[in-house]
Amino acid sequence: MARPARIGVTGMGTMGAALSLNIAETGVDVALHNRTATRAHEVASGAGALAARLHPTDTLEAFVAALDTPRVVVMMVPAGAAVRATVAALRPLLAAGDILVDAGNADFRDTQAAVASLEGSGIAYLGLGVSGGEEGARHGPSLMAGGDRAAWEQVRDVFEAIAARHRGDPCAAWLGPDGAGHFVKTVHNGIEYADMELIAEVYGLMRHGQGRAPAEIGGVFARWNGGPLQSYLVEVTAEVLRATDPATGAPAVDMIVDSAGQKGTGRWTAIEALRLGRPASTVEAAVGARAWSSLRSARAAGAAALPAADVPAPALDDATLAEALLAARIVAYGQGVSILEGASAEHGWGTDLARVAEIWRAGCIIRSALLDDIARALREGLPEGQLHLAPAFAEAMARGLPALRRVVAEAALAGLPVPGFSAALAVAETMRRARTTADLIQAQRDYFGRHGFERVDADGRHHGPWAG
Ligand code: 6PG
Repeated sequence: MARPARIGVTGMGTMGAALSLNIAETGVDVALHNRTATRAHEVASGAGALAARLHPTDTLEAFVAALDTPRVVVMMVPAGAAVRATVAALRPLLAAGDILVDAGNADFRDTQAAVASLEGSGIAYLGLGVSGGEEGARHGPSLMAGGDRAAWEQVRDVFEAIAARHRGDPCAAWLGPDGAGHFVKTVHNGIEYADMELIAEVYGLMRHGQGRAPAEIGGVFARWNGGPLQSYLVEVTAEVLRATDPATGAPAVDMIVDSAGQKGTGRWTAIEALRLGRPASTVEAAVGARAWSSLRSARAAGAAALPAADVPAPALDDATLAEALLAARIVAYGQGVSILEGASAEHGWGTDLARVAEIWRAGCIIRSALLDDIARALREGLPEGQLHLAPAFAEAMARGLPALRRVVAEAALAGLPVPGFSAALAVAETMRRARTTADLIQAQRDYFGRHGFERVDADGRHHGPWAG
């Protein structure tokens, strides 16, 4: 009989296979399982020298039997029904002390429910956010763990060994009980959505507004990647925009249908943000933009009905766009941090926000130069809880705010939608006003609902001099 495996992975899709190879490469034996068993065998046989550490199995029973005790099972199956079905199928095969890890993009509420359903069984549950796509899973992801802390301590060495490293520090951490890890991953994706949208809006201004070629715009992004905007997403954008479609010789981006997909995490971020009263308007704008992008025939009808006649090209130089992008990014990250803080307080997770930023510095999709400063700012404590007020961002915000105004104004005059930048500007402007227009909102509420208001010059609850 083969030696028992330290860990098992069920779900041999792209991510599950890549994660298994990564674990095997650290010298750990991995049992493999897949609904269609042949796939588990294929993963092992295609693994070259690593095959010796990979143990494909044909049934769930054989998979569990191949594991050392306590058994550690990593589920890499689609979120929702598939995770629930896998937990239900594994449960009778597992015993107290065993550890179940959901490494998919689960809704944190499902993770909370899974934890609750296992209560009393002695089976520990970890919700593990994994970021970095296939490449990350294979060579070093960022890992956001939540759930049973003692269980995390038992498997931590395996996950730290496979994680990306930022100057030697493994990008893997336990961030709180039950759904904390999956919540952090969800917000990571929300920020990912916002950042991608902002980048796409810059592209839209340059391409559709200024008529510049994709390859030229790609060159601008490549230059930006050498400065404060350095990030994986800017790097990817530069590469994508400079790619040519082999079949037609046209810019690759031009051959792609302009209808963006989404699997849910961005939307969940916006929904949870509203629930917590910590609006993530930049994320919401990105989710909305993706949703509108899918209405292709309605947009075509709109183009015919409301053509943009005589609009000027946006008078924006690249430096202004770069400054605006950096400021909008700071606002988007700030909204992400605020949601995390709100959720941690609401659910009693005690999430170390600085640690979150630290483990996002490498391996994940939103890794960027900015995250180093964000991590430091969070360790020092944010003034009034506001990321954009941190001293590290004072200069970027001071230069970025006028740039943001220019971008939104020029885009409006050019008839180009910039929902992400508009949202970021609204947040930045609101949060630098000592007095807003909410005095009038309070008056209206009192007028029609006798809700009462506080006065600027006296304590207590008051009503206005209207009949109402
Ligand atoms: C990552 C990514 C990855 C994926 C998301 C978002 O961190 O590796 O976030 O998880 O890109 O599923 O996907 P959608 O854009 O399809 O919602």
